[in-house]
Amino acid sequence: MKYLIVMMTLSLSQFSLAADAPKNTPETVAKGKAVYAVNCLTCHGDKGDGMGPAGKYMSPKPRNFTKDAFKKGEKDADIFASITKGLDGTSMTGFKTLPEADRWALTYYVQSFKAKK
Ligand code: HEC
Repeated sequence: MKYLIVMMTLSLSQFSLAADAPKNTPETVAKGKAVYAVNCLTCHGDKGDGMGPAGKYMSPKPRNFTKDAFKKGEKDADIFASITKGLDGTSMTGFKTLPEADRWALTYYVQSFKAKK
């Protein structure tokens, strides 16, 4: 029973986290860009094309946000989940240590590369 309550509390809190997602605005995208420069750029590159200084030599290659299909889906929630959990067995590790607001900002920044197609 105690276990059940913990599970329910967990799933409820996940639900409210999703509801707390900041809006996709020029400000959140700019914030995402700053967080990206520190955490993602070496692999995904400043153009989001997967050609960062380290990314070039990787296998599998970091996602090219401007044209590749996304394995785990392309909706905001999918990208947020990939950033949080990473992709198993690749150099794309999860970034759950980053504040949630930063992960949303990153999500919108990643989406902004696609929009420039
Ligand atoms: C050490 C290199 C590395 C770093 C740092 C890195 N990534 Fe990745 N990322 C990868 C690789 C490699 C893949 C492709 C994995 C695959 O093909 O399965 C990937 C894939 C992705 C994807 C695509 C997921 C999908 O469904 O296809 C997203 C989104 C992403 N990364 C976002 C980010 C963000 C945002 C950051 C910074 C917080 C980041 N990555 C940091 C290497 C990296």
